[in-house]
Amino acid sequence: MARTQVGIIGAGPAGLLLSYLLHAEGIDAVVLEARSREYVEKRVRAGVCEHPTVELLREIGVGTRLDAEGLPHHGFSLRFDGRDHRIALSELTGRTITVYGQQEIVKDLIAAHEAKGYPVEFEVSDVELAELDTERPRVTYRDADGAPRELDCDVIAGCDGFHGVSRPTIPGGQVKSFDREYPFAWLGVLAQTPPSDEELIYTHHERGFALHSMRSPEITRLYLQVPHDEKIENWPDDRIWSELSARLATESEFSLREGPILDKGVTPMRSFVAEPMQYGRLFLAGDAAHIVPPTGAKGMNLAVADVRVLSRALVDLLLHNRSERAVSYSDTCLRRVWRAEHFSWYMTSMLHVDPASDEFQRRLQLSQLRYTASSRAAATSLAENYVGLPFE
Ligand code: APR
Ligand code: PHB
Repeated sequence: MARTQVGIIGAGPAGLLLSYLLHAEGIDAVVLEARSREYVEKRVRAGVCEHPTVELLREIGVGTRLDAEGLPHHGFSLRFDGRDHRIALSELTGRTITVYGQQEIVKDLIAAHEAKGYPVEFEVSDVELAELDTERPRVTYRDADGAPRELDCDVIAGCDGFHGVSRPTIPGGQVKSFDREYPFAWLGVLAQTPPSDEELIYTHHERGFALHSMRSPEITRLYLQVPHDEKIENWPDDRIWSELSARLATESEFSLREGPILDKGVTPMRSFVAEPMQYGRLFLAGDAAHIVPPTGAKGMNLAVADVRVLSRALVDLLLHNRSERAVSYSDTCLRRVWRAEHFSWYMTSMLHVDPASDEFQRRLQLSQLRYTASSRAAATSLAENYVGLPFE
């Protein structure tokens, strides 16, 4: 049987960053990932890094490509009533966000593991967790060749996303979950065309929400609100472009730049929190513990914040035999998680068209948008949440 201090399930941003932070402190860890390296490096996800996320990646030495290729943003636009209302992030908060695809961070972290020889096993299957309520939890799995393996650990980190095995392994009644489903989803496209504007544009339109974002000076990322059970087959490329132009249209000269669509997919929207984020020697982090709708761009940033807290707790627990931070791990994380849950729900509710809403709700929504755009206090509140509150 193999042995490690921390068995990490999942090679998304949470699992990889946790592994890297632990190794840097001299703690041994092994990452086990169900998918192939190619798959996780190509999976198109969100792309907004909060200020604290960027600082952390830089601090630990994995920010070189992020600094070279990431696009710093000093503001974004709320577009409604056919006009732009700029939220001046850096003027209001002194901080910026950086647009850099999540899969680029995953690539950088995998390369950093490879360079240092830290173990990441891809294409594992049948992962099962056992003995979670003892000081010797165990992971059993099959390696890429199908051979059965066992990993004896001090701690297991469940970083395996919303559909992973870690959270469901916790015995019934030990975790409580809170959730909201939204009656819409996002259709996301990656297009080979320069962005139509330098900044992100969050658009509220009677036909539904639309978002203009980007990945590089040559690649645009765009999203459309669609019904929650929408099939991607209903959206040939020309329908996507015409719907985007209709929703993004302004009174002035905005024109949407079209180009070949490189990737498209529908993502459901939900809010979800599992409490506590821990059971015995199993700690949950990232999407395994909570989901936010993508409107506030918080998903990956929350995963980063969780593992920062977890790495400190595990340093105390495994190197100094002090358990205070491990015991308070869940409470510490949940404060930031619920702030992000509220913010993402608020941004989602303010910007989307709820098919069940009536005229009263639509007028409230427009009033909220107009207030946010015209009051420095309201804009500052939005901006400080958007750029990311400081780590505790
Ligand atoms: N065994 C091993 N690996 C698994 C298993 C399993 N049973 N189930 C899932 N995984 C892997 C997935 O293939 C994925 O690579 O766990 C990883 C989880 O990674 P993410 O889904 O990226 O989650 P996380 O690291 O928490 O990052 C959160 O990801 O989903 C986005 O919007 C979310 O941006 C946020 C970020
Ligand atoms: C993205 O570029 O993928 C993106 C940007 C902002 C969001 C969500 C996603 O709120």
